[in-house]
Amino acid sequence: MARPTKVEICEVGPRDGLQAEKYFVPTDDKIRLINKLINAGMPKIEFSSFVSPRAVPQLADVEEVLVGLDRTKGCTLAALVPNAKGATRAVAAGVDEIIVFMSASESHNMKNVNRTVDESLAGFEEVARIADDAGIPVHGAIATALGCPFEGDVPVTQLEYIARHYRDFGFIGVGFGDTTGMATPPVVQRAVRHIQDVIPELPITLHFHNTRGIGLVNVLVGLDEGVSHYDASFGGMGGCPFAPKATGNICTEDLVYMLHEMGIETGIDLLKMVGVAHDVEQVMGRELPGQVMKAGPRLQLHELEEVATAAG
Ligand code: COA
Ligand code: ZN
Repeated sequence: MARPTKVEICEVGPRDGLQAEKYFVPTDDKIRLINKLINAGMPKIEFSSFVSPRAVPQLADVEEVLVGLDRTKGCTLAALVPNAKGATRAVAAGVDEIIVFMSASESHNMKNVNRTVDESLAGFEEVARIADDAGIPVHGAIATALGCPFEGDVPVTQLEYIARHYRDFGFIGVGFGDTTGMATPPVVQRAVRHIQDVIPELPITLHFHNTRGIGLVNVLVGLDEGVSHYDASFGGMGGCPFAPKATGNICTEDLVYMLHEMGIETGIDLLKMVGVAHDVEQVMGRELPGQVMKAGPRLQLHELEEVATAAG
């Protein structure tokens, strides 16, 4: 499979990043950061989720956030939805895209949304109807798709089972979420090849967490398999509050940097993206894991006087 020459990044920081925080980030800060992402050329943003505000209080302001966002630049504003109630709220708020989510493994699905896999799927049939009536596309994400912290390896046949339902519901794509960073190159390759083989008409999005330091390596594997959709988070924030040891997503600026160096287009302005990450860092009040935001792009050179000369 040829590597794509263009990749679509979906920024998930406002959702995956902020849901994992102890404190509620003020609505105005969320709006400013998301509008900066739009201004940096981000093609798609998962800006929040329509879940129970009791389960995830950090994102309880989803409706207010959407009202403040710049809709003039063609950025797709997508939100995460677990059930029909979430879909009804998302349609009423006027999102551009709904992203439903469930886990591949029964135990994490129970922890995260209090449903069995089949119960989640049954609910998505109703989500599909609600979205269809409103003319809103639905993308189907699968959490713990590349490994579950409670059950271990996830059979590719389980991904196929869920993805076939997604295809039958008319969803526009399937996402493999590596919720706790358990993916490795062979795991990614096996899962992607299997779904491309059995359901070739359903585009795949890869959603990696850098929990074990090989997130961008997994992206390279995805690229080699022809996958052109990736999720990433500003500054490398992120993590599921209902999974043990969940840490940040792959970092958006680091991903953009790598792709541009490889001659792969994203439509995103790297330096503006680095600026967003610094703003996020200010809001969070702590250092974020992103690396290009610290070192700068490799050809951003330095004055000789900036460092001392070694004297022996
Ligand atoms: N938005 C807002 N409220 C919702 C809702 C939604 N999408 N879905 C359910 N609720 C409300 C119900 O109205 C009900 O409220 P009430 O008690 O005031 O009548 C309450 O939540 C319980 O409803 P129920 O259907 O029994 O939900 P539950 O307790 O089984 O929880 C979820 C299921 C999916 C709502 C909850 O587990 C959840 O929001 N999980 C999200 C987890 C998440 O975001 N994880 C990170 C992403 S990976
Ligand atoms: Zn995630």
